[in-house]
Amino acid sequence: MNEPLRVLLIGAGARTRKVYGPWLSGLPPYQAEPVRPLAVVDTDTGAARDMARSLPGAAVARPAELDRILTDDRPDLVVVATPDAAHRDHVVQALAAGCTTLVEKPLATTAEDAFALVRAAEDSSARLLVGHNLRFTNLHGQVRALLAGGHIGTVLEADFHYTLGASHSRSYFTRWHHTRAASGGLEVTKASHHLDLLAWWLGAQPVTVTALLERRHYLPGKEGIPEDADIHDSVHALIQYASGATVHYALTLNSPEEGYTCTLRGTEGTCTVQYDARSGPHFVDLRSASAAEGTLRKIRREEGSHAGADRRMLEALPEALMPGATSPFATAAEAALAVATGTAMYDASRLGRRLPIPAPTTPENRDE
Ligand SMILES: NC(=O)c1ccc[n+]([C@@H]2O[C@H](COP(=O)([O-])OP(=O)(O)OC[C@H]3O[C@@H](n4cnc5c(N)ncnc54)[C@H](O)[C@@H]3O)[C@@H](O)[C@H]2O)c1
Repeated sequence: MNEPLRVLLIGAGARTRKVYGPWLSGLPPYQAEPVRPLAVVDTDTGAARDMARSLPGAAVARPAELDRILTDDRPDLVVVATPDAAHRDHVVQALAAGCTTLVEKPLATTAEDAFALVRAAEDSSARLLVGHNLRFTNLHGQVRALLAGGHIGTVLEADFHYTLGASHSRSYFTRWHHTRAASGGLEVTKASHHLDLLAWWLGAQPVTVTALLERRHYLPGKEGIPEDADIHDSVHALIQYASGATVHYALTLNSPEEGYTCTLRGTEGTCTVQYDARSGPHFVDLRSASAAEGTLRKIRREEGSHAGADRRMLEALPEALMPGATSPFATAAEAALAVATGTAMYDASRLGRRLPIPAPTTPENRDE
């Protein structure tokens, strides 16, 4: 049997309770993973203690003790699951100590922070993996394979519309996400999932964006929404990719449904993907330009959170941590582009014009 993966957990909130805690305590469906929790770090020591209680052998620590733990215990993996704006400091600390790190999406809340993390990863001997878990849904891997296999030719355009259900929508306006400073707005904290997926499917970098962000349902100071809520609840954007593809992207809230429909139109046909975030199977409707009839594929919904994506993501970890491995995990540069696309949407909407999407600098074009 493999040596257990020794894991340090930073952030003991909802995401950890749902996914990383059960994984580290070996609860189904994770029992096959040889993992050993070292410590739980949280600014809220009560939350860290509650989590550590279910993780035999795990210590409880404050963020101020992080450097000592990183140096003394040398974890094989640091998991960062704190609120979005707090990612940067802990990721920088872990990478500087040479510890491979899995950080939750979005990588950061600003392009500046995201690009700083790309540089920190380049400067470190350790790897930075970003938990864009939607990549791991069986549906999403199949769509990527279909597109890469040329089934609809070269993608020219796509429509991707994600809707969020009412109670989930409202939670973004009542939890820490309600300020741009904490979450980057929904165009970053939520849309980064979809923007990463689109760039991964298309195999292309987003280059320009035009957008309109509005507040339609959740008005600051009304019906329990905090006065300082400064995020938007309706995002419409037009994104151009380096491949020449154009994507109409929308994220709208307070809907009866939760999930998306995406139609990709290529030189040889179209592919429509339907993903219900709550229940039921997924569908892929493939139509070739040359055949009269299309094929409708029904794809089984896998068990577990995010339609099995979280389990698959954590199962992929041991292989992703092998030296030189390539894996479906988003790299820091890919995740930074998703953040930069979201923040460019906000700027484009505010300024009322099309904007270039900044890309992270590489060691070759970096100003030292
Ligand atoms: N991939 C997904 O599908 C998915 C789903 C939900 C949340 N997330 C992401 O997971 C992360 C955590 O979200 P959550 O819903 O668990 O939030 P949460 O508020 O429930 O939990 C965050 C925890 O971090 C702690 N914390 C805050 N600042 C800290 C700091 N500076 N140092 C140490 N601990 C700190 C808080 O006390 C809290 O216990 C976010 O980045 C979020 O966007 C991802």
